[in-house]
Amino acid sequence: MNAHTINLAREWAWSFFKEDTTGHDGWHMERVAANARYIAEKEEADALHCELAAWLHDIADDKFYMREGEGMERVEGWLQSQGFQNSETNALLHSIERVSFKAGTNRPPETLEAKVVQDADRLDALGAIGVARTFMYAGSHRHKMYDPVKESKDAIEHFYEKLLQLKNLMHTETAKRSANERHQFMEQFLEQFYREWN
Ligand code: ADP
Ligand code: NI
Repeated sequence: MNAHTINLAREWAWSFFKEDTTGHDGWHMERVAANARYIAEKEEADALHCELAAWLHDIADDKFYMREGEGMERVEGWLQSQGFQNSETNALLHSIERVSFKAGTNRPPETLEAKVVQDADRLDALGAIGVARTFMYAGSHRHKMYDPVKESKDAIEHFYEKLLQLKNLMHTETAKRSANERHQFMEQFLEQFYREWN
């Protein structure tokens, strides 16, 4: 694997997510790739593996296709066309497949590299970026910002359903440190939000 392959994956991700306004644009991929590289270097994981998997992680995600498994098949075909050995392709597919949360039903990552990639994606759901993405997502799904009487779905409930739990689900020490900082910021954000609301 080399920088050329990474560049091709980067170009693919940018063109794939050209139109997205739900929090999965090319800049999400840029941030996750940068997080993955950073965490991998600190944790002595294979940084090229982690970065490549980060670029491809959302292209493989079922939520962007009509048919289940289509995204993974496309990514697998692409990896094969890049001339990876089967063992390397399988390791990358493992990292890519285990990234997603799927309401807590997906199996956990087993390799250090897969753990790094999942941590990298989860960090981008936290902190100021996480707050921003949550409201983008809610807006694009026609949810409310906040509904204190809980008659309809709102963005604020996502903090309790998922985001405030993520710091305890990080695998690597490096990601835990960033997650703690971003977690504190979200707590502060919620406090201030309720203060202004009331
Ligand atoms: P990813 O593919 O990066 O793991 P998701 O597709 O699960 O992310 O979600 C994209 C972004 O939208 C994330 O920042 C996530 O926290 C946020 N999000 C997901 N589900 C909801 C929801 N029900 N309400 C508000 N925000 C959400
Ligand atoms: Ni993602």
